[in-house]
Amino acid sequence: MQKITIAVDGYSSCGKSTTAKKVAKKLGYSYIDTGAMYRSVTLYFHEHHVTLTNDKEIEKALENIHIEFRHNPNDGRNETFLNGLNVEDEIRKLYIANQVSEVSAIAAVRHAMVAQQRRMGKKKGVVMDGRDIGTVVFPDAELKIFMTADPIIRANRRQIELAERGDLVDLEDIIENIKKRDLIDTTRKESPLRKADDAIEVDTSFMTLDGQVEVVCGLAEEAL
Ligand code: C5P
Repeated sequence: MQKITIAVDGYSSCGKSTTAKKVAKKLGYSYIDTGAMYRSVTLYFHEHHVTLTNDKEIEKALENIHIEFRHNPNDGRNETFLNGLNVEDEIRKLYIANQVSEVSAIAAVRHAMVAQQRRMGKKKGVVMDGRDIGTVVFPDAELKIFMTADPIIRANRRQIELAERGDLVDLEDIIENIKKRDLIDTTRKESPLRKADDAIEVDTSFMTLDGQVEVVCGLAEEAL
């Protein structure tokens, strides 16, 4: 059966990863969460006190970072491993979210992650979500989705998501984090977040998760 590459980009907390994960499952594709990769690099930099202005320290740290996704057969989740350790829960915490956009703006970090993402998605039949998938990682992707949603709705969704992981965070702190990340992600010099010219915009503000999955699967079928 013919398979395609699906790029899902957009602002923080628009429902990209939840949708992408479900679409991948439905289509029998693999799913790659590139945000988890930048979050893992951020966790490593945080733990090893890497100075974000020191190119040498950054290069050395990147050489020592190994990120992989492993399937957990118990709950069917794909979990993120950093140098052999399961960091899936740690990287979702707000202290990581508060640093990740600064780390992601560093050119050397992006080059290393993009190279790995291209290797991971070499075979067709992949759904990859992030900020630069349709513009930089896979500019030839057959289907590009650009997700948007009302900022307050996004913050509410993120609050629920964090609470489900046992992390109770004030809505104001989440709104501030989302705004800050959007600003850094859209204005950075290296591959800023922007809609690819050929991407299809999907506003998820008033859509259910099932609705979002249905829309993307429908578009995937058309793109075949
Ligand atoms: O998708 P998620 O919210 O987990 O991404 C965390 C952060 O990682 C984003 O705010 C952004 O700064 C960075 N990121 C990126 N490029 C990607 C994916 C994520 O710069 N492809």
